[in-house]
Amino acid sequence: MKPFRYLEYLKKHKGGRLENVATFLSACQRKGNSNWIIEKTIQSADDANDEFAHVGISKLIENQVIIKIMNNGLRAQREKKILEYFRNNPHQNIVQGIYVFECKDNPIRWNKSIKTSQPICLKDGISSFIIIIQEYIKLGSIADNDITKFKKSIILQLIYATLEWYDIHKFIYQDWHKWNILLDTTTDKTRTYNAFGKKWVIQDTMGYSPVLTDFARSNIKKHLEPYELADQIALILDIFNVDQEIAIAIGSCENIKDILNYIKIVSKKL
Ligand SMILES: Nc1ncnc2c1ncn2[C@@H]1O[C@H](COP(=O)(O)OP(=O)(O)OP(=O)(O)O)[C@@H](O)[C@H]1O
Ligand SMILES: [Mg+2]
Repeated sequence: MKPFRYLEYLKKHKGGRLENVATFLSACQRKGNSNWIIEKTIQSADDANDEFAHVGISKLIENQVIIKIMNNGLRAQREKKILEYFRNNPHQNIVQGIYVFECKDNPIRWNKSIKTSQPICLKDGISSFIIIIQEYIKLGSIADNDITKFKKSIILQLIYATLEWYDIHKFIYQDWHKWNILLDTTTDKTRTYNAFGKKWVIQDTMGYSPVLTDFARSNIKKHLEPYELADQIALILDIFNVDQEIAIAIGSCENIKDILNYIKIVSKKL
């Protein structure tokens, strides 16, 4: 199977998540809105925690891609906005969105896991859906994997990425839980992050990198307050059960300097 490994993942390059998103985007657009087949369910609408969404696997130029079918409401519009932003401004820890489009379908079809391949988008569909096409991260979420050996790198990558998102992209994630953090492989031994005029380096990724998906609760705003960043960092520490006292202390910080000081303490403790 080894020679075909490149077919399993979309190609990547340092910094950005895909080598040539434009190729996949134009293949997506050529495919049109009515030519998509969903092959296998990853999460049915009945199993979603939030609103209706069916997540499954499809194919694009021989690569497996994720296809997410959502009700066309505010959450889907928000997810669309964030994915389109990061398609144009790729980030190493954000899943690479490829294409988003609208079509009509019937929600009942997507409540349960599918048993055989199914086409999406129906001419006589009764509801409007947002369809998201994004890269497929084969290992799934960090909840599906044993990350003990490289937990420190995963936590620090997420913390430093969150600083970059806040400072450079004005992006705030707001949906932290283990099933939304995917586990990707990487050939980068080191990873560098920059924010607030400072630089942080992960010395050894051990070949793994966390990648966020699910942006229905996220936001990109003109102005963010430091306490909003503090909340995000505290939530990351909480997910990984890192020192609860420090998590609470960070969560109540109201300026960047204090947040960065606590992060320094955390990075030494890990
Ligand atoms: N690109 C991807 N590659 C691999 N697995 C993915 C990908 N995107 C999502 N998944 C898996 O599918 C699950 C559901 O996706 P997502 O969180 O986007 O949907 P959701 O309906 O908003 O979920 P929920 O409401 O349950 O949080 C994720 O928790 C993750 O395990
Ligand atoms: Mg989710």
